[in-house]
Amino acid sequence: MRIVVLVSGTGSNLQAVIDAVSSGSLDLTIAAVGADRHDTYGVERATAAGIDGFVVDFRSYPERADWNAALTEKVASYAPDYVVSSGFMRIVDQGFLDAFPNRYLNTHPALLPSFPGAHGVRDALAYGVKVTGCTVMIADAGVDTGPILAQAAVDVLDDDTEETLHERIKVQERDLLIRTLRELSQESR
Ligand code: GAR
Repeated sequence: MRIVVLVSGTGSNLQAVIDAVSSGSLDLTIAAVGADRHDTYGVERATAAGIDGFVVDFRSYPERADWNAALTEKVASYAPDYVVSSGFMRIVDQGFLDAFPNRYLNTHPALLPSFPGAHGVRDALAYGVKVTGCTVMIADAGVDTGPILAQAAVDVLDDDTEETLHERIKVQERDLLIRTLRELSQESR
């Protein structure tokens, strides 16, 4: 199974996938890691691991549709079985989704359908929930919508900040993402 991973930031979940592949606990090929902006640590992590990195810079395209088309073409050039959005903070259009039907995975740091969007951890904390978590799903054209594949719960502690809670969620999120990818790669054999 071949995957392309898309990132916008630090890519700590990506690193967990890279480590699982290199230790042999996850049997797949990370064909490439792409970002929507320059200088992401996620792409740096990939190139440091000898994986192709690329950028399709959102700001270089005056029209969103052109950026989507360029991203779709670049990702498709790696012929992935799955595309994984791992902290990729852009919504892709229907053209991208049609190129990878039911093959675009997303992770989110909340128990969807609660707290979608760019601030899932902050919003859950502000609401005062006592349990939150993370979700791995098949992405569709909405914001953190689409069929849910797996979820894990994380308790909110009284003294949690957005950072401390997000770090504990990410521990679960990495595990959930790797387990989901393992299941998909076993199914694809
Ligand atoms: C992850 O927690 C991921 O769920 C979140 O960004 C973080 C990326 O961390 N994505 C979203 O909030 C999407 N709505 P990382 O760059 O360290 O892997």
